[in-house]
Amino acid sequence: MFFHCGQAMMRCSITRRSSFDAESERQALIAGLLAPHAAIPPKYFYDELGCLLYAAICSLPEYYLTRAEASIFTRNRDDIASAIGSGKQMVDLGAGDCRKAAEWFHILQPGRYFAVDMAEVHLGHSLGRLAEEFPDMEMTGIILDIARGLALDSDLERRPVTFFYPGSSIGNFTPKAALQLLGQIRLHCQPPGSGLLIGVDTKKDAARLDVAYADPLGITAAFNLNTLNHVNRLIGSDFRVDDFRHVGFYHEVMGRVEMHLEARRDCTAHIDGRVREFAAGERIHTENSWKYARHEFEALLQQAGFNSVRCWQDDAGDFCVFYAA
Ligand code: AVI
Repeated sequence: MFFHCGQAMMRCSITRRSSFDAESERQALIAGLLAPHAAIPPKYFYDELGCLLYAAICSLPEYYLTRAEASIFTRNRDDIASAIGSGKQMVDLGAGDCRKAAEWFHILQPGRYFAVDMAEVHLGHSLGRLAEEFPDMEMTGIILDIARGLALDSDLERRPVTFFYPGSSIGNFTPKAALQLLGQIRLHCQPPGSGLLIGVDTKKDAARLDVAYADPLGITAAFNLNTLNHVNRLIGSDFRVDDFRHVGFYHEVMGRVEMHLEARRDCTAHIDGRVREFAAGERIHTENSWKYARHEFEALLQQAGFNSVRCWQDDAGDFCVFYAA
């Protein structure tokens, strides 16, 4: 599928990858909910309300990640930009509102900008706005679940490309899947001068991580619970939000934050013609957010085939930004 966004008819288009198969997505979601250890993939957080709630999370005092990354970008923008170089193609993974990437446009001057995301409506609006602000830049939105592969061969020209993957979204992949994704990015980085700019959250005190993912205002709880409403709309199930509560904590041994929806009481949900019973205390696993010590992520980048890695950190060492080439 291919269409144009808003008024910027000439320079902005959106394409949906054919590998995106709604029916197999639906079946995988149903299977996850019916499994003995029920799970919902974190991509189902992001319906329209979920995107707004995630934006609100990023403004919470307890969710330090966004501010720490922004401060690293602001303090080191020139240095990072000179490591990357200008005039390259730019691929923004998990682009969302495209704002973080847009902050680099003036200094990196990308010839072409590719915004990759799963949320089609959101991406259409964001690109439409951006295309009016940067009328000379060619922009392409690509609707793609990068967890299913980075199919960008037909989009990228054989010239240098900068991948941009901020926000520690890489932490939402298992380390094995993260390595696979980094390996695929590396394959697209064959033209000399290509590389990956990526933000990664670090391991730290459990109490800080616990509260970052279970904030006292309950915004993260709303973000997590909203998934049930989203799932109900997608597969026609009848989960009651009120039957569940949000659980978010740092699992120090695993090196990851886990989020779950825990049944407050014995309850049931009708899922695709079947009845799924949940015992009080039973959990639906909704997200893992892996945290990496600086040396751990450097090792992962090297394993993926990047042989030059630079790192910038904030003073507290709360967050890392890497440029890997
Ligand atoms: C998108 N991702 C990097 C966030 C994270 O921190 O793992 C999603 C999130 N989950 C709870 N709060 C924010």
